[in-house]
Amino acid sequence: MTNSAAAAVTPERIMQFAWGYVPPLVLEAAIRHHVFDVLDSGPKTVPQLSAETRTSERGLTAITNALVGLNFLAKDAHGVFSLTPESAAFLVSTKPGFQGGIIRHCSEQLIPKFLSLNQIVATGKPIEAVNQENTGGEFFHEFVTDIFPMSYPAALALARHLDLSSPIRVLDLAAGSGVWGIALAQSSPHVTVTAVDWPEVIPVTRNTAARFGLSDRFAFVEGDLLKADFGTGHTVATLGHILHSEGRERSRALLTNVFHALAPGGTIAIAEFLVNPDRTGPIGSLLFAVNMLVNTDEGDTFSFEEISAWLSEAGFTNARTLEAPGPSPLVLATKPN
Ligand SMILES: C[S@@+](CC[C@H](N)C(=O)[O-])C[C@H]1O[C@@H](n2cnc3c(N)ncnc32)[C@H](O)[C@@H]1O
Repeated sequence: MTNSAAAAVTPERIMQFAWGYVPPLVLEAAIRHHVFDVLDSGPKTVPQLSAETRTSERGLTAITNALVGLNFLAKDAHGVFSLTPESAAFLVSTKPGFQGGIIRHCSEQLIPKFLSLNQIVATGKPIEAVNQENTGGEFFHEFVTDIFPMSYPAALALARHLDLSSPIRVLDLAAGSGVWGIALAQSSPHVTVTAVDWPEVIPVTRNTAARFGLSDRFAFVEGDLLKADFGTGHTVATLGHILHSEGRERSRALLTNVFHALAPGGTIAIAEFLVNPDRTGPIGSLLFAVNMLVNTDEGDTFSFEEISAWLSEAGFTNARTLEAPGPSPLVLATKPN
């Protein structure tokens, strides 16, 4: 190796990653202690923040300075902290764009499981899988509400894309909060929704639909996705962030069931964390695949090419992407007439 080549490589990135677990935990502590919420009413010093959040000045000093370094807060020459445009839009819990849901699960639900990653890699099996009803129902009960803001803009983009001017029967599979059906029903009075999820989660779907004043347009089916009877003749089926936890074989079976549940000409819409065909990116989807390793029996992240092959196998045609806000474009396909 030449000297110049040796000089070009530094351990700097590795040193940075050694502390990679800290930023989400700092964000979580700030969210839990309402730091962003309190700053939403105006800039404050640490003593003022301490009084309003009832947390220690020492703790707040450490995390607020770190948040300045991470560009989630700004600090002026007098030590007064304020929100940045990003934290004002997405980290204040009362804002519609609040994205703190996943972060809020870091210390209690996500990181503890990742601490067993060495063992999980050795065995290829999760310590506790959330794709099973007994553990998943409880996990998802709270989580689905927290991730509502992640999918709501994408669901509205789907609503804008579809023709909702005549009666539309939406089958919202793995409905969770009901975000996909809710956005579609809000967008047109012609939309009715059948929401399918585990019995532990359907009460959340029911409550969220009621909160949006849409109860009269929702029907609910409780059960496992591969066993539940969700009827036939639906015009649109949405599968929001479910294929990754189901894994290849269950996903393929589910797509076949969806094909039979749709009316001819019907549309299936799938939201996923897509990887490229070589599985070299994007990094968010590659990291999410590790999350599926840690949390599910057979989960993974898939490419558009893989999903479109399963769609063709199930009988769908014209698999395509629809650009939408979120981690990846949506995948759409049509049941032929
Ligand atoms: C990641 S959440 C997605 C919720 C919603 N579709 C969204 O995009 O926000 C996955 C949902 O699938 C449900 N789910 C997972 N596996 C299931 C299964 N085998 N049968 C029924 N529901 C399931 C969970 O309860 C949860 O509501």
